[in-house]
Amino acid sequence: MAAERTLAILKPDCVRKDLIGEVTRRIQEAGFKIRAMKLVQLSRAEAEGFYAVHKERPFFGELVDFMTSGPCVPMVLEKENAVADYRTLIGATDPEEAAEGTIRKLFADNKGQNIAHGSDSIENGRLEANYFFPEFEIINNGG
Ligand code: CMP
Repeated sequence: MAAERTLAILKPDCVRKDLIGEVTRRIQEAGFKIRAMKLVQLSRAEAEGFYAVHKERPFFGELVDFMTSGPCVPMVLEKENAVADYRTLIGATDPEEAAEGTIRKLFADNKGQNIAHGSDSIENGRLEANYFFPEFEIINNGG
């Protein structure tokens, strides 16, 4: 049985700040295996689809504007307890509330531009991974 997986996105602010390597290093040092990874530019329709669960929220337009403002890096991460452990690693949504040493506390500007996304459940991790990656782009035997 494969270890648990989660879908991470290094958001456009992470890419603009040249932090892809820094954040990826922290993810790998925390014990996550990268099972898929690519640089993509989301269209509005793609960003709206990914965040459809938030479409009634007042910040939805701002969120879609931001997520389409430049390229981002989705990745599938694998580790025991991946969903919860990755959310611990990145910290609270709002960097002002994030614990010291977390990725958002270290690098994020605010709640909207918060460097990284992480799935909130195993099932959403699977759905979100499939949103970005066809089956052949997800590695199942990477050691
Ligand atoms: P993420 O984990 O990508 O999932 C939904 C995103 O909505 C969240 O990270 C935040 O970046 C964003 N978000 C949540 N609340 C707000 C808010 N009040 N204003 C702007 N963006 C928000």
